[in-house]
Amino acid sequence: SRLDSMRLILLGPPGAGKGTQAKNLVDHCGIAHISTGDLLRKAVADGTPLGQAAHRFMKAGELVPDDLIIQMVEDRIAEADCAEGFLLDGFPRTVPQADALGEMLKRKGLKIDVVLLLVVDDDDLVRRLSGRRSCSQRGAVYNLVFSPPKRDGICDACGSEALIQREDDKESTVRNRLKVYHNQTGPLIDYYKALGLLKAVDGGGKIETITAQLIEAMNSAAA
Ligand code: AP5
Repeated sequence: SRLDSMRLILLGPPGAGKGTQAKNLVDHCGIAHISTGDLLRKAVADGTPLGQAAHRFMKAGELVPDDLIIQMVEDRIAEADCAEGFLLDGFPRTVPQADALGEMLKRKGLKIDVVLLLVVDDDDLVRRLSGRRSCSQRGAVYNLVFSPPKRDGICDACGSEALIQREDDKESTVRNRLKVYHNQTGPLIDYYKALGLLKAVDGGGKIETITAQLIEAMNSAAA
């Protein structure tokens, strides 16, 4: 199928389920998963210069400056596993990032095939993010309300007891992330609509139902 050579963007507010759905989609399609949030959290944990520069923005729920993000993504896309196709999760988040992405792909003779937008309303987002817990060992993601681990406080995937709350999932920080999303990332909806690339999917149902709808949207973009 053409799904194994697609280049797509998963767009949506914090807590919309980008990370959850991205894992399902890359498993299904066999393409690379590029999560700028995960790359940044790793840089922070490793104490790299990028991580040191990014940390104060992330903690406050603000965006990390475009130049740092664009360089990070350009380096990541140049890696071997991205050669056939990739899913971008959490990038682009500003118009300058979207312009830079378009230009870096154009230089390689490539383009984005489809932009999938996950639509979820703000109250649900706050509920989801306050219940989110992730495994600090390998990053499996749970929700205390919607998809709890089988045993309280223990990761299903690796058995560790290290389920943690992200430091930017405090309610006041979540509210700021939503504001930043609407102000700075919201304009990308019209940006990609104008390019004829946008497909909106209801992100409010069950995880598996949403995955099936996203795959259907990818198939129709590939046809
Ligand atoms: P990032 O890590 O990208 O965070 P985000 O966009 O705020 O997204 P989240 O990871 O919070 O949510 P998600 O949509 O992945 O939802 P998830 O699947 O986990 O960015 C973090 C920070 O890094 C930014 O604030 C910024 O500082 C910086 N950054 C990153 N990229 C940047 C960029 N390009 N430019 C500048 N700065 C950047 O799901 C959430 C919860 O809901 C989970 O508990 C999950 O289990 C649950 N859930 C999922 N689906 C469902 C469902 N269908 N029903 C019920 N619950 C569900």
